[in-house]
Amino acid sequence: MAEGTGPYNQVVMDHLKHPRNMGEMESPDGVGEAQNPVCGDTMRLFIKVETGRIIDVKFLTFGCGAAIASSSMTTEMIKGKTIDQALLISDAVIAEALGGLPSSKVHCSVLAEKAIRAAVSDYQKRRGG
Ligand code: FES
Repeated sequence: MAEGTGPYNQVVMDHLKHPRNMGEMESPDGVGEAQNPVCGDTMRLFIKVETGRIIDVKFLTFGCGAAIASSSMTTEMIKGKTIDQALLISDAVIAEALGGLPSSKVHCSVLAEKAIRAAVSDYQKRRGG
């Protein structure tokens, strides 16, 4: 049986097959949406925040495998982080955590970075900040 013949490495495949924190969140403190202008794929990120820390994260992504894996990895990376720490997570950091993405798929992780920023700014707006 040939393994690893697809474009994605094992870490990406694992997140793709078993996405972490996928689904909708009831009464989130912030919701961020991002769309990839290249392909039209979209991601929605929900965050729950307590005393400046992200205590829960969920995502809904309608997109390619790399976008779903990036979303899944992102939720694991920002859970437990402060808002400031979460804002430091860039698409490159996400792609690196996934062990790299095929070059044609690098732009897909940008979706996750944009969704983090959108969710945080929604959270700050709701707080009236
Ligand atoms: S091809 Fe659209 S996000 Fe990857």
